[in-house]
Amino acid sequence: MALDSVLVTGGAGFIGSNFIHMLCEERPELRVVNLDALTYAGNLANLTAVEDRTHFVHGDVRSAEDVGKALDAAGEGSKMGVVHMAAESHVDRSIIDGEAFVSTNVVGTQVLLDACRAHGVARFVHVSTDEVYGSLGSEGLFTERTPLAPNSPYSASKAGSDLLVRAAFHTHGFPGCITRCSNNYGPYQFPEKLLPLIIANAQEDRDLPIYGDGMYVRDWLYVRDHCEAISAVLERGVPGEVYNIGGNNELANLNLVKRVLAELGKPESLITFVDDRPGHDRRYAIDAGKIGRELGWTPRFTFERALPLTVRWYQAQVEWLQSVRSGDYRDYYRRQYGR
Ligand code: NAD
Ligand code: DAU
Repeated sequence: MALDSVLVTGGAGFIGSNFIHMLCEERPELRVVNLDALTYAGNLANLTAVEDRTHFVHGDVRSAEDVGKALDAAGEGSKMGVVHMAAESHVDRSIIDGEAFVSTNVVGTQVLLDACRAHGVARFVHVSTDEVYGSLGSEGLFTERTPLAPNSPYSASKAGSDLLVRAAFHTHGFPGCITRCSNNYGPYQFPEKLLPLIIANAQEDRDLPIYGDGMYVRDWLYVRDHCEAISAVLERGVPGEVYNIGGNNELANLNLVKRVLAELGKPESLITFVDDRPGHDRRYAIDAGKIGRELGWTPRFTFERALPLTVRWYQAQVEWLQSVRSGDYRDYYRRQYGR
């Protein structure tokens, strides 16, 4: 589908900023609008290089008024695609307090859906997660037909939002697709998540906290591959369909951490086993056959290539990492937006 404009929600976060960088590089003809509330996870410094190419709306997906401003910014009569990434995204935070997760992920998605339907958007991609399927044992893969069985307040709120997108399609013929992706890694990830956390800690010779026995398995995908998959769904996805996205790259956390330490030349003695995450899902692994067969997407980056790229990126971005870890990046917002 030939689009004139794309509205990205949550574009100042990890995947959103990588997605906007990709759009600006590869689709210079598109008008790109970014609606972001700039929560602790949103950082406009992630978008400095493409600032002039994007229109930023500082607003909340839970506010019909803010969403309306963002849709208007995409232009009258424009054939618009929406990529919905704004969310509370960290499992550990949802275990401490789930309220913001229900509010942004569930209520925010419904507000956005209603506004996008009224506005007549041409395509809507809801960026969801493999965590909605719950946990696997040692065998098997998640397919699009795996029943939803979320185990954390985060994944339950994402499953709720998936069902709202599904309902909008069935009830109103709304042109929404859902993607469910595995764990991403790459530049601009907030250092509360495992990979940037251990890179940052190891660089400073600090302990690396490993939950439980460290044998929890995730399927790691380079963020650029995820962005390309989202783009394929935006352009060629069939409304009402779900597409799983994964890297075919299962690794136990402990092995991932050891690979990072080897890359950094740091000792394994930094590894520190700590209390487990309550309700910790044992294993995620994705069957991404459908998106490959139907939309022609497969990952381009191997782990062997993209892990060193990622580690080197964080090593080079000392200032970015320090400003995020110290909270200084928030001052930029306060100066710009007075809050
Ligand atoms: P992130 O936490 O890095 O970024 C989230 C962004 O959303 C931030 O910029 C934040 O300011 C913004 N935001 C939060 N609440 C908002 C609100 N109410 N209104 C407007 N903006 C708001 O998240 P991420 O890791 O980039 O994930 C992006 C999306 O992809 C999420 O929906 C997540 O569930 C999904 N996902 C993430 C992964 C992963 O490995 N990180 C994997 C699969 C799916
Ligand atoms: O699977 C997709 C999901 O991946 C996304 O939907 C989420 O938004 C994203 O945060 C991620 O969720 P995880 O819980 O898998 O990611 P996290 O980086 O928090 O943890 C990865 C694994 O590492 C998990 O098994 C928990 C473990 N872990 C995590 C942290 C932060 C540790 O052992 N120590 C830690 O300090």
